[in-house]
Amino acid sequence: MKDLYAVIGHPVEHSLSPKIHAMFAVQTGQNIAYEKRLAPLDGFAATVRAFISEGGCGANVTLPFKLEAYDLADEVSERARHARAANTLRFAAGRIYADNTDGVGLVRDIKTNLGVDLEGKRVLLMGAGGAARGVLLPLLEARPAILVIANRTVEKAMQLARSNQHHHLAAHTVLSGVGFSDLAGQRFDVVINATSSSLSDELPPLPDDLFATGALAYDMMYGKGLTSFLSYAQAQNVAQLADGLGMLVEQAAESFLIWRGLRPDTQPVMLALRKG
Ligand code: ATR
Repeated sequence: MKDLYAVIGHPVEHSLSPKIHAMFAVQTGQNIAYEKRLAPLDGFAATVRAFISEGGCGANVTLPFKLEAYDLADEVSERARHARAANTLRFAAGRIYADNTDGVGLVRDIKTNLGVDLEGKRVLLMGAGGAARGVLLPLLEARPAILVIANRTVEKAMQLARSNQHHHLAAHTVLSGVGFSDLAGQRFDVVINATSSSLSDELPPLPDDLFATGALAYDMMYGKGLTSFLSYAQAQNVAQLADGLGMLVEQAAESFLIWRGLRPDTQPVMLALRKG
């Protein structure tokens, strides 16, 4: 009998997670099955309960259920509590344990795969929704000199910055929350798009001259071709562009570690996915 896992979402059809975890399983010799479960928009908790009854050992949770996954858990990790969202569930002894591996996945992709050290850097995080909240603490842990959160609804950015300013992980970073128009005249080494603007092919209203020499432009979205933000960055001659595929594989590896106690090598998986 294989241990059963799944990704639960709506939609979930195009999720790459089953492919990623299948490759992890072969590589590590773990005897697991990883499937997809479509949950009705008003039926996330019921889908999770049904999956547990089927024998499910754990699940990844994708849009739009990350907040519900957090609320459903009996026990949560510090990083999930901070994000108030979960992308990884583990089921054991009748209890649901929730974690959030998105932020670690992002930071690992930037530092290890892309070779960009965040320590002492000027970092711009665009967006103040669930996706931004999920990566904030791990970004602070990487000790940038400056971390600016910019959001269309300015108050949300200010609130997110305020509520984290006194976190012990923010001790090495000047953290602030602003609107996009406040960015004029500032330049950043790393610009991360955590808004959902790429979904609708839109672009946050960015001032010119935002990117420092040698900057990295990172879009947490991935898909076919460049997102609108990455096209914009390319037109601004940004040295390094990255979509969220590396983050996806890294968050999956961290989930696999939580479930199976060992971390797979992400490089061959990333290469295979890039080839299509
Ligand atoms: P997610 O979980 O993906 O973060 P969310 O919580 O709905 O989803 O947050 C979406 C984020 O993308 C928000 O920061 C939103 O800005 P507002 O708070 O002002 O709504 C941002 N966003 C969405 N579309 C955008 C656009 N076209 N331009 C700029 N920001 C956008």
